[in-house]
Amino acid sequence: MKYVFIGLGIMGYPMAGHLSKSSGRLTVYNRTISTAQRWAGEFDGELAPSLAEAVAGAQLVFACVGNDQDSLSVGEVAINAMPPGSIYVDHTTTSAACAEQLETIAKARDVGLIDAPVSGGEAGAVNGALSVMCGGELSHLDRAAPVMDAYAKRIVHIGPVGHGQLCKAVNQIAIAGLLQGLSEAVHFAKSAGIDTDKTLEAISGGAAQSWQMENRWLTMVDGEFDFGFAVKWMRKDLDIVLKEGDRTGAHLPVTQLIDDFYKQVAQNGGAGWDTSSLVTLLEQDKNKS
Ligand SMILES: NC(=O)c1ccc[n+]([C@@H]2O[C@H](COP(=O)([O-])OP(=O)(O)OC[C@H]3O[C@@H](n4cnc5c(N)ncnc54)[C@H](OP(=O)(O)O)[C@@H]3O)[C@@H](O)[C@H]2O)c1
Repeated sequence: MKYVFIGLGIMGYPMAGHLSKSSGRLTVYNRTISTAQRWAGEFDGELAPSLAEAVAGAQLVFACVGNDQDSLSVGEVAINAMPPGSIYVDHTTTSAACAEQLETIAKARDVGLIDAPVSGGEAGAVNGALSVMCGGELSHLDRAAPVMDAYAKRIVHIGPVGHGQLCKAVNQIAIAGLLQGLSEAVHFAKSAGIDTDKTLEAISGGAAQSWQMENRWLTMVDGEFDFGFAVKWMRKDLDIVLKEGDRTGAHLPVTQLIDDFYKQVAQNGGAGWDTSSLVTLLEQDKNKS
């Protein structure tokens, strides 16, 4: 079996690393070659000079790139070079419409398509503990899931192609409001002058506990944001969410508000900061008043 991983970014780099350890034959491709070379210094796998050469003869191809446009441009080239009967798994977070467009391209080539966005952040990718939400035919997922187990702790079939992406939109709505609540909690604790380590110890064992609290509290207290899930990606996701909300009539007032906040963070130079940087706006407003 030949497996391929495309896109060695914050998420793809460790995901492909897990795949290289669990699968016999892995080929990787990254647009910026120096990143692929760095990856090959750490893990076993073949480096491909082009996308088309990477996927030639592959049974399973995984991709984790940027936005809709990236997913479509990478997916189209890859799928058109893949053999009939193979499967393309897109881990990029995109719109459901983008996944459906890829499915049309894939069907014409007799390639199976699974939209499979992930949640769990950089830590989930590094620890091989991602949650994967999948859209597509169950028979295709049955072939891909045992391989994805290398970096997933949970793989759920949501429905047809596009439904993995809609599930990820649900995930992002749930995170957006929570991050603002956590930001206000950190901001309040610092303003009140109480011991923030002890506060975390106490409240992370209670009803307020969350992944964001466990993984981001300390860095939010220290004002460190140069890592993780970039604000620009969250804005891309919230744009997908808000357009889908408009289409379906779903009312999302807090999500809209948080998107406006992220716009301000980006305007402050934070497009590449982790999404926990919402807290910077509170500190900025406090300093102004
Ligand atoms: N970071 C997170 O915590 C997280 C969590 C869940 C989901 N996601 C989603 O996962 C995806 C990737 O996120 P990330 O944080 O890993 O992003 P990232 O660090 O910016 O990496 C993006 C990767 O995609 C490649 N790429 C982007 N556009 C491309 C194109 N048009 N052609 C070829 N390669 C392209 C980049 O190649 P280069 O090296 O050449 O730029 C890079 O390898 C996004 O959809 C994001 O929303 C991220």
